[in-house]
Amino acid sequence: MPEPFTQWNPARLLDPESLRHLVLDLRQMQTFIEDPLVIARADGVWYEDVHGRRILDGLSGIFVVTVGHGNRRVIEAIKAQLDTLAFAPPLHATNPPAIELVNRIADITPGDLNTVKLLSGGSEATEAAMKLARQYHKQTGNPTKYKVIARYHGYHGATMGALSATGTKRRKTMFEPTLPGFLHVYPPTCYRCPYEKTYPDCDVFCARTIEEMIELEGPETVAAVIVEPIGNTGGIVTPPPEYFPILRDLCDRHNVLLIFDEIITGFGRTGQMFAAHTFNTTPDILCMGKGMSSGYVPLAGIAFSDRVASAFWGRDEDAVEFSHGHTYGGNPVAAAAGLACLDEIRERDLCGRAREMGAYLWSRLESLRDLGVVGEIRGKGLLIGVEFVKDPVTKAQFDPAIKFGVQVGKTALRNGLLTRFDPHWVAFAPPLIITKDEIDIMVDIVTESVKEVLVKL
Ligand SMILES: Cc1ncc(COP(=O)(O)O)c(C=O)c1O
Repeated sequence: MPEPFTQWNPARLLDPESLRHLVLDLRQMQTFIEDPLVIARADGVWYEDVHGRRILDGLSGIFVVTVGHGNRRVIEAIKAQLDTLAFAPPLHATNPPAIELVNRIADITPGDLNTVKLLSGGSEATEAAMKLARQYHKQTGNPTKYKVIARYHGYHGATMGALSATGTKRRKTMFEPTLPGFLHVYPPTCYRCPYEKTYPDCDVFCARTIEEMIELEGPETVAAVIVEPIGNTGGIVTPPPEYFPILRDLCDRHNVLLIFDEIITGFGRTGQMFAAHTFNTTPDILCMGKGMSSGYVPLAGIAFSDRVASAFWGRDEDAVEFSHGHTYGGNPVAAAAGLACLDEIRERDLCGRAREMGAYLWSRLESLRDLGVVGEIRGKGLLIGVEFVKDPVTKAQFDPAIKFGVQVGKTALRNGLLTRFDPHWVAFAPPLIITKDEIDIMVDIVTESVKEVLVKL
């Protein structure tokens, strides 16, 4: 790392009086201020706080920093673009990096997802995808198709439409009523099937039953199904291989657009460029964000099929253009960062690396089973979750009040490892550049942290 950080005065940064003006995401600020974490800089897979304490980034910030921190190629690309053109008028013009980026995305996405709308954040992408689906049906003779089917435990963003698709109670009840026209089904949680079935005898009932919902609602009212290929908030919900082909088929038969929310799973995370490749299924609309710029600047987008795109071509007087936009969509600096990230992912074969290091991380996490509290390890590539249980034989859960997973995650953070955690699980999604030695450090810290929590139970 470069020389110690000197630009800021830590005493002022950590002063409650300075911090009380701030609101973090989904955090009780009164508690945060009592023990604040202020990150000063980062390099590779390591963060450093204002005290100089190093924290291993086992979560890529929040599933974002795919190419790692301090990547020179991305930084230089951003600097060069800032020197050339920082902003282009989004209503009247585009710019060279934006054109290059949409062409590259058309190349790397599966199937004929050849049309790309650039945006700035994941919620913008899921909102745009659902609006695109509704407008598509209006312009192709099906104006009554407006309902969106999503899944419980899913998360699609914080804005009102994305939140309406979200199926995670604690993120949305505070803001209800959410928008009408959103329905939810159970996700494919085979380890704890809500239908009390067992895979593979179940014949993937959780996917097939979505057809019944479409039929009961009336196919003429259903516009889209939106899913995360691997769901984060439910605890790295990983479907069996048949799930998405079944979903694809039933969506086709009912003229329902399939939307993949790949905000987390895109750009190599699951071991292929997109989880659509990993699960061998091409959606009609693919939402991307996070790893798209590795967090260096805000960047997101949607890519959609030729069939969908064709409904939006016409003459001005036809008024069929996509009636949607955001000020920072297609920003040249963001696009330049996205191009540099794609170069890194390709040249360093970060998809292959996610597979290789993911397999290593998984094999190391298996040793956690010796502690007697691991129910299931699941995920793909470098997106892996561990579900904790009181009894691995019966799958009995810990009392939710204990918040076992939260305790493990918080202890790990104190011990120098950032993870994603919930009452019943922890998840790992480090930068794809992580080495085996760094994975060893991750697993050692998490092992010690589980032991510490067990001792205190
Ligand atoms: C799957 C998924 N979709 C959408 C979003 C929303 O993205 P953003 O926070 O960039 O608006 C997130 C954010 O975590 C996400 O995980």
